[in-house]
Amino acid sequence: MKALRVKRQDAGKAVELMEILNLRDKRRLITSKDDYVEVPIVECDLNSLKEVADFDFKIVEQKKPVYARARTLRDAIRQKLSESEMKKLENLLPSTYKVIGDVILVKIPEELKDYAKIIGEALLEINPHCKSVWWDRGKRGMLRKPEVKIIAGKGGETVHREGGCVYKFDVSKVMFSPGNQAERIRMGTIVGKEVVVDMFAGIGYFTIPMAKKAKVYAIEINPESYHYLLENIKLNGVEGRVIPILGNSMFVTPERVADRVVMGHINCHEFLPVAVRALRDRGWIHYHESVPEAVLERPIRRIISAVREEGKRIKINCVRKVKNYSPGVIHVVIDAYIY
Ligand SMILES: C[S@@+](CC[C@H](N)C(=O)[O-])C[C@H]1O[C@@H](n2cnc3c(N)ncnc32)[C@H](O)[C@@H]1O
Repeated sequence: MKALRVKRQDAGKAVELMEILNLRDKRRLITSKDDYVEVPIVECDLNSLKEVADFDFKIVEQKKPVYARARTLRDAIRQKLSESEMKKLENLLPSTYKVIGDVILVKIPEELKDYAKIIGEALLEINPHCKSVWWDRGKRGMLRKPEVKIIAGKGGETVHREGGCVYKFDVSKVMFSPGNQAERIRMGTIVGKEVVVDMFAGIGYFTIPMAKKAKVYAIEINPESYHYLLENIKLNGVEGRVIPILGNSMFVTPERVADRVVMGHINCHEFLPVAVRALRDRGWIHYHESVPEAVLERPIRRIISAVREEGKRIKINCVRKVKNYSPGVIHVVIDAYIY
């Protein structure tokens, strides 16, 4: 790690020249000691430097270089790789990542699998309040189990705070979608003093904000999610208003109890008749679906047909986009009034 050592009075000129010649190594900071200043430089031809510098200098080897504090993942990784490696990988590096509580989830292309640890360590460096980094490889099956692998730090359990609610869960066991935040908050604001059935409660994504006002039957099939659902009910002080049910909502959903039913699973159209039967006489269904842009009308067709088969009528109040799900596929929610 080389640096140009110059007298303090020549520091300005030296920095300027290194900038003009594109020789300054910006990963390291300019340091000073006594009457001298060290300007970090990249490898270069010393002879040509002597020809252009109109000040005295010495090239020194920095034993303890001081690195500039990285602010982006790219900067932090640049400090760990050689320039040529960085050039090779730069376009593949993840441009975003999710911080959930004190845990980080990042999608990494398979081509970078040998660099996963470096990426994880870099993310911990630029997010010093975080304890671990997990490689996010998607979610599996109806239970939406996360496929993740730890790449830096320790521990998957975390606490996420949002809209006055607290969600505790383990990112290695249970999914959490930061992209659904607006929808979670909306659910908390549209309910009143009423009865809700949350057919896919998970750790309480919608149950918790709604239970601040409403009585909620919260149904969850996965014991690991159910465990956190129970904890979150306590952490949020809504014990009196939630009735947690461990089981398959196809079979355990109570009938004729609800003013509102939440179907917060992106692949749950087969459960629509059960949702209609959970309503008292009339009421709202919030039906989620991941839908290819080519068949955007599909969720509307499905809900209308299920409601008619149950001998009820329907008014579609709105179709909202929750988030982009995958290329060409969006996650939507339909607010429908059934009567
Ligand atoms: C995708 S998560 C909900 C995500 C949530 N909407 C959000 O905002 O992040 C769906 C939950 O439904 C649960 N689930 C799947 N099938 C179920 C079933 N038949 N009965 C009850 N729960 C089910 C899964 O275990 C999971 O916890």
